[in-house]
Amino acid sequence: MITPKKISLAQIPTPLEEVKFEGKSFLLKRDDLTGCELSGNKVRKLEYLLADAKNKKADIVFTSGGDQSNHARATVIAARKVGLKTKLFLWGKETKNPNGNLFLDKVFGADIQYFSKAEYENVNDIMFEQRLALLKKKKNAYVFPGGGSTTLGIWGYINFINELKIQTNLKNIDSIVAACGSGGTAAGMLVGAALNNLNVKIVAVHVLMTKEEMEKHILQLAEGCVLDYKLNCKINPENLVVLDGYSKEGYKKISQSKVNLIKKFAQDTGILFDPAYTGKAFTAYYEKYLKTGNGRKNIFVHTGGLFAVFDRTKEYIPN
Ligand SMILES: Cc1ncc(COP(=O)(O)O)c(C=O)c1O
Repeated sequence: MITPKKISLAQIPTPLEEVKFEGKSFLLKRDDLTGCELSGNKVRKLEYLLADAKNKKADIVFTSGGDQSNHARATVIAARKVGLKTKLFLWGKETKNPNGNLFLDKVFGADIQYFSKAEYENVNDIMFEQRLALLKKKKNAYVFPGGGSTTLGIWGYINFINELKIQTNLKNIDSIVAACGSGGTAAGMLVGAALNNLNVKIVAVHVLMTKEEMEKHILQLAEGCVLDYKLNCKINPENLVVLDGYSKEGYKKISQSKVNLIKKFAQDTGILFDPAYTGKAFTAYYEKYLKTGNGRKNIFVHTGGLFAVFDRTKEYIPN
């Protein structure tokens, strides 16, 4: 077994809280609390990715995402902490008054290039071409794919399972539920569970691709990690459950009924979910596990995303 090196960026272990909502208790893992400006699930992956970037003597980091990407914002800030600049390749438009994550990207001095949705389809090729152009000038750009989901980055969520195992007896837990975008969080948890011989289901509430694409991608990442790091475990595909249909309004939108649930939850518990990921995933969790009284056997992971709320003030407080 090969264990990759990491640098310390995340405030971990994050708390595992017992939260009560509408008279029912459930377990909430607070991965929104991995830090302040640098917060959310991406920080765990960045500990590994940036260690590798530094080791490979990167001059700059490239990454991509939507204009409110939490991963992009976390990358910019984490890279600054280790003395690196970031260039972001974002799906969205230049705006005079950026807010939320984009505002922070600018405050922390990221170089940003914007793309239409159609152009963004080729973002990996574009990053690769720009990397080659820099190489000719003897500059080394290290590319993190969208969401930081590589077989290295997902180690952050292998360790998450080890952390959670100390906080609760995972043998009594049926499933761990989290929002899913690029699949790395779910893939890491699958590997972590396999390494610990746990029969827990990893439930990924996906907001971007089709269910089939997502399943395939998560399993490829998990199995790729087992191969790359010669891990002594076998991934059981039946332990992956991809929940579909909670982002029908589109990745950059959120339905009013979901916002109403987010606000009710916020006002009852003091905990806020974001519009792109956790608000949608919590809606799924609420319907499938919480309302049915199964919150103590199924953990919900709050993966962060707070800053994206500030780009959606009209949805959160309609006139
Ligand atoms: C707040 C938040 N939750 C969940 C996710 C999904 O994580 P992953 O990309 O590892 O599937 C993301 C990013 O994509 C995110 O920003």
